[in-house]
Amino acid sequence: MKIHDKEFVKYIDQKKINQRLAAIAKEINEDYKDRNPLFIAILNGSFMVAGDLMKKINLSCEISFVKVSSYTDMESTGDVKKLIGLNENIFSRDVILIEDIVDSGKTINKMLGEFKALGAKSVEIAALLHKPESAKVDITVKYCGFEIPSLFVVGYGLDYNGLGRNLPDIYQLKPE
Ligand code: IMP
Ligand code: MG
Repeated sequence: MKIHDKEFVKYIDQKKINQRLAAIAKEINEDYKDRNPLFIAILNGSFMVAGDLMKKINLSCEISFVKVSSYTDMESTGDVKKLIGLNENIFSRDVILIEDIVDSGKTINKMLGEFKALGAKSVEIAALLHKPESAKVDITVKYCGFEIPSLFVVGYGLDYNGLGRNLPDIYQLKPE
């Protein structure tokens, strides 16, 4: 299948995704009994995993959505990521961040710092995909769907230059 200029092949089937999400949901349902957790899905990439995961959560809980905007700070050299859209009071809440993928870990690390600074009682990560070999910072993905090698993937919320988010399965770049 072609997206923009690149050829992709099917990598993880929607049935397998669904099975893993069921296993993760079961763990969360047990771990967070009587704790009223606040799920925070990080847009855009996590919209599908958030929707499918939340249907399997049977706790009393809340869900909200944030975006992380990347921009270059004129004052500094590195990329600065800014959290937008957070309206909830985080103080003393049990927060579960929902991500599509943890790659270098920099985005989620920044988020962890922000939520801890806002006084969250606990912050854990639920991510469909994790590329441990790409890690630039040490991140524990407590609820992980699949650990994958450092290859580029699209589908199920993940995009390649804006396209592919609507695909129900996950595709990888076709090996040369
Ligand atoms: P990190 O800060 O390097 O962990 O980057 C995480 C973000 O990069 C994810 O939320 C995705 O939006 C994007 N990303 C990382 N790897 C891929 C990939 O293989 N396909 C599509 N997007 C990716
Ligand atoms: Mg993302």
